[in-house]
Amino acid sequence: MFPVESILAKPLFTREDIIYLLNTTEKERLLLFEKAKETKAAFVGKKVYFRGLIEYSNYCKKNCYYCGIRAGNSRYARYRMTDGEVLDAVNYAYQNDYASIVIQSGEQTNQPFVRKIESLLNRIDRQTSGKIHVTLSLGEQSGETYRRWFEAGAQRYLLRIEVSNPTLYPKLHPDNQTHSYKNRLEALKTLRTVGYQVGTGVMIGLPFQSVSDLADDLIFFRDFDIDMAGMGPYIAHADTPLYQYRDELLPLKSRFDLSLKMVAILRIMMKNINIAATTAMQTIDPQGREKALMVGANVIMPNLTPVKYRQDYLLYENKPCLDEEAEECKSCLEARIHIAGDVIGYGEWGDSKHFTDRKA
Ligand code: 5AD
Ligand code: SF4
Ligand code: FES
Repeated sequence: MFPVESILAKPLFTREDIIYLLNTTEKERLLLFEKAKETKAAFVGKKVYFRGLIEYSNYCKKNCYYCGIRAGNSRYARYRMTDGEVLDAVNYAYQNDYASIVIQSGEQTNQPFVRKIESLLNRIDRQTSGKIHVTLSLGEQSGETYRRWFEAGAQRYLLRIEVSNPTLYPKLHPDNQTHSYKNRLEALKTLRTVGYQVGTGVMIGLPFQSVSDLADDLIFFRDFDIDMAGMGPYIAHADTPLYQYRDELLPLKSRFDLSLKMVAILRIMMKNINIAATTAMQTIDPQGREKALMVGANVIMPNLTPVKYRQDYLLYENKPCLDEEAEECKSCLEARIHIAGDVIGYGEWGDSKHFTDRKA
């Protein structure tokens, strides 16, 4: 009997258990993956849900040290999609039975932006007779803004904590009011209070980050009782301050391996949440997203952003799908999901079961 087997049999992992699991190799690692796969099959099933991703705008008021579209980077042309482009992308999702979209953008909090999102939400609702569910990923906003958008029809919100360790946070962000860990945490709590299905997540393999930090991230998700998670490896970007540490990072392969284990452990810890197979995983391993599906992920985000903008939404380097139109990503992902042994939940919202159970 391997030590990992007695850990996997526990109803609740301790911090030490999680650290052990994150460090597993060979046969023990496979046992972890096997358990995650069984958990997924038993609690969320084989269905993978599509979330059509609309990268609405790369304007951002923030300066996160890891991100390619940070305000301080003048390399990219800044863009904002037109209403027509957004509604076309939504229509594509609707026609293709995606049932759900994500609107993501750099962080903007000015009133014209807030109103624009509100009006787009209303138009999306009308155009699709309420059949498309919308997830927002638009950063930290006031409680009032979160409420307005919720009332205009958004059901879910993604706001990654990025790192749950409050002392690590200021090493990865400028240490000021605009980038405060406390505000981030408050924003997550507000989202929950307003009524959203709340998703968060972290980057894996950041400079200064340890395996025990990652264990704490998973415990943070459990304590916060999140509904959805999106995690992926950190990938250096040449136009960012953290690039100077690129030689001190874990090798790409280890970052990928840790990311897979994070997905697997989280699936076992939080059996019925939604977990994304993130694009960043595919950046390191061509089969990255399939592998994530095989160890517990159940959500995938096909890109619907017009191709002409994709070069300007590079949060990290080597992002895949820069030239692929929506149709190509769709058939590519269908094949990948099939290879992973799953089926696509076309026409289904795929709400987080964790959220619906909690509500009930
Ligand atoms: N590598 C990986 N992920 C990144 N993100 C931003 N920059 C990077 C990077 N260099 C992630 C952040 C953010 C999400 C939209 O993209 O976690 O929340
Ligand atoms: Fe802006 Fe988000 Fe990038 Fe930070 S991670 S710079 S908030 S787009
Ligand atoms: Fe875009 Fe494969 S997912 S080309």
